[in-house]
Amino acid sequence: MPEYRYLLSEREIPKSWYNVIPDLPGPLPPPLNPATGQPAQPSDLEAIFPHALIEQEVTGAPSVPIPDPILDILRMWRPTPLHRAHRLERALGTPAKIFYKNEGVSPAGSHKPNTAIAQAYYNKAAGIKRLTTETGAGQWGSALALACNVFGMECMVYMVKCSFYQKPHRRTMMECWGARCIPSPSDQTRAGQKVLADDPECPGSLGIAISEAVEDAAAHQDTNYSLGSVLNHVLLHQTVIGQEAIVQMKLAGASPDLVIGCCGGGSNFAGLAFPFVPAKAAGKSLRLIAVEPAACPTMTKGVYAYDFGDKSGMTPLLKMDTLGHDFVPPGIHAGGLRYHGMAPLVSLLHRAGVVEAVSYPQLKCFEAALTFARAEGIIVAPETSHAVGCVIDEALKAREEGRQKTILFNLSGHGHFDMAAYEKYFAGELSDYEYPAEKIREALAHLPKAS
Ligand SMILES: Cc1ncc(COP(=O)(O)O)c(C=O)c1O
Repeated sequence: MPEYRYLLSEREIPKSWYNVIPDLPGPLPPPLNPATGQPAQPSDLEAIFPHALIEQEVTGAPSVPIPDPILDILRMWRPTPLHRAHRLERALGTPAKIFYKNEGVSPAGSHKPNTAIAQAYYNKAAGIKRLTTETGAGQWGSALALACNVFGMECMVYMVKCSFYQKPHRRTMMECWGARCIPSPSDQTRAGQKVLADDPECPGSLGIAISEAVEDAAAHQDTNYSLGSVLNHVLLHQTVIGQEAIVQMKLAGASPDLVIGCCGGGSNFAGLAFPFVPAKAAGKSLRLIAVEPAACPTMTKGVYAYDFGDKSGMTPLLKMDTLGHDFVPPGIHAGGLRYHGMAPLVSLLHRAGVVEAVSYPQLKCFEAALTFARAEGIIVAPETSHAVGCVIDEALKAREEGRQKTILFNLSGHGHFDMAAYEKYFAGELSDYEYPAEKIREALAHLPKAS
């Protein structure tokens, strides 16, 4: 009888996070203070982050223990199942074995609560009463709303305007957990007001929403800012995914040749792929593939340079793959992938050739999502559909070559709040965006001096 799911007990949740920093092929360039051009000091970050998270941002320890109160909450949905996609394999007629880790089973519907819970915990422990954040598709905002609710904190979410109107029920979901969510750019912050003055019709971007959330946090003593991706500590918290997957793949008697994840800021890809880095470094033949949208091709068309994490230039400068902090990506439905930069850790591994990057256009991804839904039953988020598109291509390649291979990917979230996007796809109202070369050239011309 074929086995479809590989499950771990609650006791088998990883007890520490895996830190990739000691396993990097070279030193990670430090964040810079934009005013001085010198490496940022912990004090530069203390206005918006608690000490414990700043420490995790820079630690060189190979692992970081997960405090019991965090484990206790992760047990609400972890360990997540590892599925074998037998039905998809049959539908594709491929000799490839396909496995996926299902992060869509979390209460908020994606991998994002893995770090939201940890971030809320450390902020609460530091006496913070309120968290602000940005959100693209609403998955991260929902996750932080859930986490703040668990710890009895207030939560304020700036949601990218085009996604706010594409996915109205995400806001309702955040309100169910007691958070407040408004469209960004808003008239509530100086950063938002400036963007609206230049372009009242601006669809928003993650870079703009980050500026608003950071400004709000810096202006309130009891408030900190929380980021859903990109930073080292966020990627660290997501490594429970890959650590569980390694144990579950052993249960399945398999070992991946390809590890695939979609990439917005890099956290779900890193969460699955980073725990496999030591095996790859030790010589195992293993491809780690990050999939991004063709409309926001940060790794495949960007430059590796110091840039701001936000539109207004309030964050430290990060050395990363970037399209320029001014770049406002086209309003694709994978809102969580509309970010101009990429996590410094993923960027470094990409530039070192440890991680490969590919880009996919929106229509091909929706087509792949439907193939997946009709075979496996799960309707994935538009972000996740990028990983699915790549998995299907690799499985079909295996069929053409008549070669056995094992593919593992991260099903980073379900798409239950993305029905408007699927509806538009069925109505033939979605299109692919041209690679916005001119806009990217313009944005790259505004990179800060340090680069
Ligand atoms: C379901 C889902 N997957 C992937 C992403 C991309 O983010 P990251 O690259 O940080 O995982 C998002 C972001 O919102 C998301 O909601």
